[in-house]
Amino acid sequence: MAPIIAPISEATIDSYNGCLSAVAQERLWLGLVGPADLERSRSFVRANIQLGNPHFVATDDERVVGWCDITRNKLEGFRHCGELGMGVLKEYRGQGIGERLARAALQQARVAGLERVELVVYASNEPAIKLYEKLGFAVEGLHRRARKLDGRYDDVISMALLFEPKLDSLGREVTETGFAAGTIGDLSMRVGEDVRDLHNMGYDWGQITNVARGRMTLEEMWKQGPRRGDKDQQ
Ligand SMILES: CC(C)(COP(=O)(O)OP(=O)(O)OC[C@H]1O[C@@H](n2cnc3c(N)ncnc32)[C@H](O)[C@@H]1OP(=O)(O)O)[C@@H](O)C(=O)NCCC(=O)NCCS
Repeated sequence: MAPIIAPISEATIDSYNGCLSAVAQERLWLGLVGPADLERSRSFVRANIQLGNPHFVATDDERVVGWCDITRNKLEGFRHCGELGMGVLKEYRGQGIGERLARAALQQARVAGLERVELVVYASNEPAIKLYEKLGFAVEGLHRRARKLDGRYDDVISMALLFEPKLDSLGREVTETGFAAGTIGDLSMRVGEDVRDLHNMGYDWGQITNVARGRMTLEEMWKQGPRRGDKDQQ
């Protein structure tokens, strides 16, 4: 069965640490070139979960075989940026797992309001560079001979992906629901019901918008009852 892609959890941290260690110890792809420290991984993952940073793992029969994380920058002025890191165990590469992981993490990053995802990659890492280009990343810089490991130099390339606002045919910004903000489609996706029906049932747009914005639940609106005034009913 194909590995499952899911957000990392407390239960998968130790296995994630093993996966990270294995990729690091290849001494080719990551900044880290030795075993990963379990305590550091635990605090990194727990912080990501708590802060809502995207961090996905691929698991095969409960063993973590790949990961992709995007850490939001904490500095004022840079909080719209996140840094991406990823890896897949050698024996699982070339099966689409890296791309699935990266797409899941990027989707969550976009929904979380990140506007720019950055990364650095060794110039010798053709598979990763090709993947990032496929995902829409652009090269922004070349750091010549930035790494010297085991007597060999490698250049470091910086790349970034900007999430451009999506516009509909009327030039309105499309939200993560796939519809322009505040439209019937957008409200219906957020509320989970066709809002035209709710309005026809007598619920006013204020009530419906409150549910869409998470200020009250549908159940609370049912309890409140329809409160559309006569002027609203045409
Ligand atoms: C980079 C890496 C995560 C890609 O993961 P993967 O699961 O092997 O990649 P996928 O099978 O999902 O491939 C997706 C795309 O990546 C590119 N790609 C993957 N392997 C490639 C290879 N050997 N040569 C060229 N392009 C490759 C292709 O664009 C591919 O799309 P395609 O199949 O339509 O051609 C994986 O090679 C890896 O873990 N490498 C070591 C760790 C690493 O480099 N991490 C990133 C540090 S910046």
